[in-house]
Amino acid sequence: MGNILITGASGFIGSFLAEEALKRDLDVFAGLRKSSSRRYLQDSRIRFVELDFTDKTRLKETLLEQKQKGIHFDTIIHNAGLTKARKKEDFYRVNYRFTKNFIEALTETGTVPLKFIYISSLAAYGPGNELSMKPVMLDDIPKPVDEYGKSKLESEKYIRSLNGFPWLIIRPSGVYGPREKDYFVYFQTISRGMEPYIGFKPQILTFIYVKDLVRLILDAAFSGITGKSYFVTDGKQYDSREFAAITKKHLQKKTLRITLPLKLVGGIALAMEKIFSLAGSMPTLNTDKFKIMKSTNWTCQVDVLEKDFNFQAEYDLDRGVKEVLEWYKNEGWL
Ligand SMILES: NC(=O)c1ccc[n+]([C@@H]2O[C@H](COP(=O)([O-])OP(=O)(O)OC[C@H]3O[C@@H](n4cnc5c(N)ncnc54)[C@H](OP(=O)(O)O)[C@@H]3O)[C@@H](O)[C@H]2O)c1
Repeated sequence: MGNILITGASGFIGSFLAEEALKRDLDVFAGLRKSSSRRYLQDSRIRFVELDFTDKTRLKETLLEQKQKGIHFDTIIHNAGLTKARKKEDFYRVNYRFTKNFIEALTETGTVPLKFIYISSLAAYGPGNELSMKPVMLDDIPKPVDEYGKSKLESEKYIRSLNGFPWLIIRPSGVYGPREKDYFVYFQTISRGMEPYIGFKPQILTFIYVKDLVRLILDAAFSGITGKSYFVTDGKQYDSREFAAITKKHLQKKTLRITLPLKLVGGIALAMEKIFSLAGSMPTLNTDKFKIMKSTNWTCQVDVLEKDFNFQAEYDLDRGVKEVLEWYKNEGWL
C-alpha cells in the first residue's frame, strides 16, 4: 500500500492517524520532535523520524537521509500544529512558517509526495453569520476570528498558491475522542455537576469524532483528488444544550445550569491567561479561545464529503460521547 509520514503523530489526532494507517497496512512513519511523547505510538511497526521544523537546513538533511535509505514518502499528512500558544507569534511560527519550511524542504530535496494533506481547521474560516445562521460555505471568504484560525489561514493561502504541488486541505470542526484534553475539561465540569453556558444565546456546534476524522483523512489521501479543501463534521448540528444533555445522560449526572454573561467569561479568560503566563503556560480558557467559544454559528458545508469520498460519519454525538466517556472513566480521567 505504500508509506505515509504523519507529522504531529504524538498528539491526539496524530496518534489516531497512525493507528488508522497501520490498520490499512501502510508503512507508518511518525514525524515528531525529540521531546515528543511516544505514549500512544507503541506499535512496533511504527518508525520514527525526528523533524526539526525550526531549521530548514536540518529538515532537508533529514529528508535526504530518508531518501538515501530508499524511503520516499508517498503520502504526507502535515498534522503538527499549535492549538494553544503563549504568544500570538507562536501560532504563526508553528502553523504557518513551519509548514512553509517543510514544503520548501520537500521541494528543494526532490521529496515531494504524491499527496500532501494539510490539517487546517474550521477556525481558518471562522464562524458563520450569527443572524442568518447560514453554514460557512466552501466558497465563502474566510473570516477567522482568532489568532489560531488566522495562522491556519495563512498556511492555507501559502499552500493554495503553490503550482504543481499535490495538496489537499482538511478543516475539521471540533474534534473529540479518547486522549483529547480540551473537551475533556467540559466533560469533567459536567461530571462535577455543573453545566456552564457562555452568553444567553444558544450556540450551534458541529463535531467530528476522531475515529471518523482519521478514516476520512486516509480515504482522502488515497483518492485521486488534489487541489481541494473540505470542512469536516459528522454532518449534524447540535445546540449547546443538546451537547450537555447527551453528556449528562451518559454520565448519569444531574447538573446545575450556570449561564455566564459574555463579559464575565471574557474577563475570566484574560485573568487566567495572565496568571498562567507567570508559570509560562496557557489555560484552556484564554482570550483567543474565548472568541471561539462565544461564537454561536459553527455550521459549515460538508455535503461534498459524501460526493467526493463517499463519507458518512459512523459516530454521531450521542455515540461518540458515550464511547469517549467510557474511555475517560477506564483511564481514570473521570
Ligand atoms: N483538536 C481539534 O479539535 C482540532 C480541530 C481542527 C483542527 N485541528 C488541527 O489538528 C492538528 C492536530 O491537533 P491535535 O488536536 O491533535 O493537537 P495536539 O494533541 O496538541 O497535537 C499537536 C501535535 O503537533 C505537534 N507540535 C506542536 N507544536 C510543535 C512544534 N513547535 N514543532 C513540532 N511539532 C509540534 C505536537 O508535538 P509534541 O507532542 O512534541 O508537542 C503534537 O504532535 C493541529 O494541526 C490542529 O490545528 C485540531
